[in-house]
Amino acid sequence: MSARWKALWAAGIAAGLLALFWRDTFNPETISGTRVLLTGASAGIGEQMAYHYSRFGAEIVLTARREAVLQKVMERCLQLGAKKVFYIPADMSSPAEPERVMQFAVQKMGGLDYLVLNHIGVTPFQMWDGDVEHTRWLLQVNFLSYVALATAALPVLMESKGSVVVVSSISGKIATPFATSYSATKFALDGFFSSLRHELAMQKKDVSITLCVLGLIDTETALEKTRGLVYMDALPATEAALAILRGGATRAREAFYPWWLEPLCYMRGWFPSHWDWVIQSSYNYTSA
Ligand SMILES: NC(=O)c1ccc[n+]([C@@H]2O[C@H](COP(=O)([O-])OP(=O)(O)OC[C@H]3O[C@@H](n4cnc5c(N)ncnc54)[C@H](OP(=O)(O)O)[C@@H]3O)[C@@H](O)[C@H]2O)c1
Repeated sequence: MSARWKALWAAGIAAGLLALFWRDTFNPETISGTRVLLTGASAGIGEQMAYHYSRFGAEIVLTARREAVLQKVMERCLQLGAKKVFYIPADMSSPAEPERVMQFAVQKMGGLDYLVLNHIGVTPFQMWDGDVEHTRWLLQVNFLSYVALATAALPVLMESKGSVVVVSSISGKIATPFATSYSATKFALDGFFSSLRHELAMQKKDVSITLCVLGLIDTETALEKTRGLVYMDALPATEAALAILRGGATRAREAFYPWWLEPLCYMRGWFPSHWDWVIQSSYNYTSA
């Protein structure tokens, strides 16, 4: 065989493997009739996820703090085709709320197929200012409430062979400036839920855990915070929301949006100090 044919064969095999690896196994029909508890559902990516789940015919319990906004999201979900929609206002900085929210969801829907953990507490985008109390509070909202919600949901998810979908960030894989406390809460999610995924597999419990790693997304809060501080383009929240939903539905271990964050995470280990320079150059220090 000539060198040219060998190269063609190798390229063909590589293309075939890539196609197999990247093939889309998502079937929107599998979402129809499923029971979803969605946190942080009043705005941003959570609101967009609520609309996607509705278009695919799910039953949804929405939660966030602002009741009036949840009411509006619920109405839109019903217009879009959700089978049933309920909402429950809750502040996840209160340790009692996860259990109350879970009980409400199970009572209203008679079970649960997807627990989608998406909410985050309000946090400044700035240099570390030494506010340890804020970090403690943010850990409660962004991390401990996720742990408590997942713990309360696990018995029901084991019955339904359901899924936990955890919305994280590239800042939970690669530390970035101006996000010390936020980044810490997102790394904590990876540690906890990746360990839990092992334990569920070892016990042969058929509950999937999907960690979703997102880049900069064009939600109002993210754009407001990062304006003038970050040299990066924000991507559409509706596409990020669909990528999360798709990751959960296909029971992926991890879902990346945009897709190139995955190779970036692998490459981070190579020449770490050069990457540090690239990261620091993507942020505007003088305005901070
Ligand atoms: N946008 C980005 O660039 C980006 C990038 C990477 C990862 N992510 C991740 O994507 C997820 C959604 O981000 P987003 O940009 O869509 O956020 P967002 O627009 O700020 O929405 C946050 C949601 O959380 C709720 N919330 C805030 N404080 C809460 C509390 N104490 N208790 C309960 N709910 C609370 C908010 O509703 P109420 O105000 O009504 O409570 C809202 O529904 C987060 O996990 C975030 O880390 C976002």
